[in-house]
Amino acid sequence: MDQKQKVTIIYGSVGGNTHLVVERVSTELGKNNIETVLVKSLSADASNIEGSNLVIFASPTYYHGLLEDHFAVFISKLKLENISGLDFAIIGLGDKKYDSEYITESAQILEDFVNDNGGNIVMNSLRINGYPLAKEKLITRWAQKLAKKINQE
Ligand SMILES: Cc1cc2nc3c(=O)[nH]c(=O)nc-3n(C[C@H](O)[C@H](O)[C@H](O)COP(=O)(O)O)c2cc1C
Repeated sequence: MDQKQKVTIIYGSVGGNTHLVVERVSTELGKNNIETVLVKSLSADASNIEGSNLVIFASPTYYHGLLEDHFAVFISKLKLENISGLDFAIIGLGDKKYDSEYITESAQILEDFVNDNGGNIVMNSLRINGYPLAKEKLITRWAQKLAKKINQE
């Protein structure tokens, strides 16, 4: 039997929305025989992403286009060798009622970070504008597409 693919999901969440999204994604990947490990940004470091087939970075946007605080600290400590050559997928949350100019900007920040450090983003980022449970279908479809990509490798 093929060895299970392992996905590490590093996420930051202040109000719980991003947590909801990564739980849904994790459930969907699990249904597709993919093992997931969820790590909160507050306690994440480079060792968490070692040995993963793919890493998901998930952060909400706060304060006019910034990452969640602990996520910003986490990525500031990562080095090129932690990212380079590794497969990634990105989840960014936001809400246009807080800022119409920087909607889900966290996804853009994380995409730029991964690209600048030689990582490989395997598909379009999941951007959630507004309350995530109103976007369940979008989340499920995105996770199913990601599962397909991972299992094709
Ligand atoms: C103080 C504050 C600032 C925010 N700034 C932005 C922003 O600049 N851009 C955006 O798209 N969403 C912004 N948001 C919306 C959050 O990103 C959104 O509510 C998200 O779902 C929160 O995720 P969490 O519950 O996982 O923390 C802001 C929310 C708050 C409370």
